[in-house]
Amino acid sequence: MRNRVKGFKFLFALLFLVFWIEGCSERKNSEVLVSNTEKGVIAENGMVVSARGEASKIGVEILKKGGNAFDAMIATDLALAVCYPQAGNIGGGGFMVYRKSDGETGSIDYREKAPVEASRDMYLDEDGVPIPDKSRFGGLSVGVPGTIAGLFEIHKKLGSLPFEDLINPSIELAKRGVVVTEMQAGNFNGVKEKIEKVNGEISFIHRVWKPGDTMKLPALARTLERIRDNGRDEFYKGETGELMVQHLQSLGGIITMEDLASYRAIWRDPIESQYHTYKIISMGPPSSGGICLSQLLKSVESFDFKKMKHNGVPYIQLLTESERRVYADRAYFLGDPDFIEIPVETLLSSEYNRKRMQSFSFDSATASSEISHGNIEVVESDQTTHYSIVDAQGNAVAVTTTLNSGYGSKVFVKSAGFFLNNEMDDFSSKVGYPNKYGLVGAEANAIAPEKRMLSSMTPTIIEEEGKLKMVVGSPGGSTIITSVFQNILNVLEYDMGMQESVSSIRFHHQWLPDKIRFEETFDTIHFQALRQKGYHPTIISSLGRVDAILVMEDGRLEAGADPRGDDTAVGY
Ligand code: DON
Repeated sequence: MRNRVKGFKFLFALLFLVFWIEGCSERKNSEVLVSNTEKGVIAENGMVVSARGEASKIGVEILKKGGNAFDAMIATDLALAVCYPQAGNIGGGGFMVYRKSDGETGSIDYREKAPVEASRDMYLDEDGVPIPDKSRFGGLSVGVPGTIAGLFEIHKKLGSLPFEDLINPSIELAKRGVVVTEMQAGNFNGVKEKIEKVNGEISFIHRVWKPGDTMKLPALARTLERIRDNGRDEFYKGETGELMVQHLQSLGGIITMEDLASYRAIWRDPIESQYHTYKIISMGPPSSGGICLSQLLKSVESFDFKKMKHNGVPYIQLLTESERRVYADRAYFLGDPDFIEIPVETLLSSEYNRKRMQSFSFDSATASSEISHGNIEVVESDQTTHYSIVDAQGNAVAVTTTLNSGYGSKVFVKSAGFFLNNEMDDFSSKVGYPNKYGLVGAEANAIAPEKRMLSSMTPTIIEEEGKLKMVVGSPGGSTIITSVFQNILNVLEYDMGMQESVSSIRFHHQWLPDKIRFEETFDTIHFQALRQKGYHPTIISSLGRVDAILVMEDGRLEAGADPRGDDTAVGY
């Protein structure tokens, strides 16, 4: 029912937008996707915002039972693995950033790692040219999954309720079934052929899906029961691990039981930086998110946003030029910190980023070829997922988790009911060659046994004068960082509410290719002016689905649930 109401609301808003566009030829630009006065769900105590209502509801039920934000995180994550199988997962990995109510901050890396048998040139043909399908589909594209290790580690250190209380709702959901939304039905029908090409026919996907159909996942329910009963080792040393390795090896994969047994989630210091009076707490390497986001904010900090109309030409220029420079740094400097040296302090310094911006002028674009070279195309995808949680004590959690592509490698462990990631494509298969997101890399992100591939995931928390201000993050591959960046500016510089910010139209630049990609509802009125200055605007359907929470002045929480997807906030 809720979904239907939401669907009507969205349709109504869309019709409104169409008529509004028709009737407003003088309008300068279309700044929001839905409505610029819309408020998000508001709650007094706690809130979960995620890609699916079922998952947000399960998370909030845990909060209501007295669980903390970390308990809710575990329950929400497992629920997403059931009701949002394109990105929610137990066969992938992710990152969590947290801030406890007493101000303590931390982060955990449960990113996938390369198997021991992986090697630097494993995706190249005999002429040394990368074969993209090898790192994107099937057994060889799979990294050693980290999600279950991450959840147990978080539970051990920060959880308060028994693990079985957190996993049981997802077991019930997998047995009872999930009602498929319109978006999801289209998604299943669209990907079916690819999944069957990798695995042969499988009952879960082999049908025509319609909105309102029920998806039941009995094999996944049994796997979750075994994990509940046998703990973390069930996945890494037990029957589930064996089922996974057998299926993978039959498809040419190289992950072994030893790879699984040696997997560890790692607590890492978050990246913390200052933007005016705000503290930005985000994920460090092997994600590029925290460093790049901090660099972007430092690059624009000395500019006066009051003089720049939101999404107007100077604003687009400033963000584009900072993004161009920061993504060039990303390609060269960033990778797994356990394998390479990263000049973190310099990259985060105001002085360094100010210097990088010295070559920028509002008169004309800096060509990306002046910063480096290349001419690379990007393929779109929106299949990672981010969720944000705040509990009644004020503990905050930002989590981004993924299989990389939608349904990852498309490898489905039939007997255990889950998909495996294709995170190996996030490595640089060869210096200077683009991955799925058009991102190029260098030595720093070359493949090596047991190394973690560089990510763009940017789960982020913002603090103002010692108090929690905002929790934010996004899916979207290379566009994650710039979606988070724009939402932070929307709230901190343009005083938007959380829902208004999340609904706002966005754009993206990533150094290479030298294009600004605008969401299709962005008004093209500025394109001519941008072209004259040497920019290359292009249109894409939409950017990542941002799910965020803002602490309002009166202390209540406002959610921003992205209308680009089925994303839903539940609060109490
Ligand atoms: O870690 C990364 O940066 C990517 N594997 C994330 C993939 C993603 O966001 C896909 N969905 N849009």
